[in-house]
Amino acid sequence: MNWMLPRWFAHRGGGTLAPENTLAGLRLAVAMGYRAVEFDVMLSGDGTPVLIHDETVERTTNGRGAVSELSDSALFELDAGGGERIPRFADAADFCLAHRLLANVEIKPATGFDGATAQIVARMTASRWCGAAMKPLISSFSLAALEIARDLAPEIPRGVLYEDVPADWLSELRRLGAVSLHCDAERLSDTVLAEAAEAAVPVLCYTVNSENQAKHLVDRGVSAMFTDRLDLFAGETTAYKALHLPG
Ligand code: G3P
Ligand code: MG
Repeated sequence: MNWMLPRWFAHRGGGTLAPENTLAGLRLAVAMGYRAVEFDVMLSGDGTPVLIHDETVERTTNGRGAVSELSDSALFELDAGGGERIPRFADAADFCLAHRLLANVEIKPATGFDGATAQIVARMTASRWCGAAMKPLISSFSLAALEIARDLAPEIPRGVLYEDVPADWLSELRRLGAVSLHCDAERLSDTVLAEAAEAAVPVLCYTVNSENQAKHLVDRGVSAMFTDRLDLFAGETTAYKALHLPG
């Protein structure tokens, strides 16, 4: 598979320049020229996939409670910042398709909901992007979720997410049929980078909010990065890495 991987992904929609994980964030990413966005997807109490990072709504909205216990009607009434609503994943997907944005769909299950979240998000991703020329990239810290995505939506590329990359990362990546390694920029070792280069696996790092750090990571061989500071890297949004991936 030939893959033109944008160097920059707007993190959580529009990073810190817009309410996180909202359509306003996605609109800002497009307005600033970004070609790729990352967002987090969790299930509401009604089983609807929505964009949100935390298991509870307190930090990012004016509400209270656990996402997995709130009904859609309660969740969609909340103010997620500047009058924005928590978006349905379906609406974010349609926005990305309409704007030719590469979507990194991070499956972010609430505790105990790995299976249900992965099943719904994988199926919806496959159906929403069915026939689309540019597929999204599914990632997750939950290896159980990635296993389900592999089985239910094998045609959608997957990335394995780690905070600390374990020694057996490459065999896990192969087992999951994943194409990319996503990891914390601060904890990425030269050993892992060398193994990734040897195996021709692109490495994507979160969360890169300084120009010096970005330059250093690119010099070390990192292929792409997630940023909250869309303003800092708006001049590099057309930078791509041409990759040839097996399969
Ligand atoms: O997917 C990269 C990054 O978003 C992972 O960390 O906690 O911001 O979802 P987090
Ligand atoms: Mg994320």
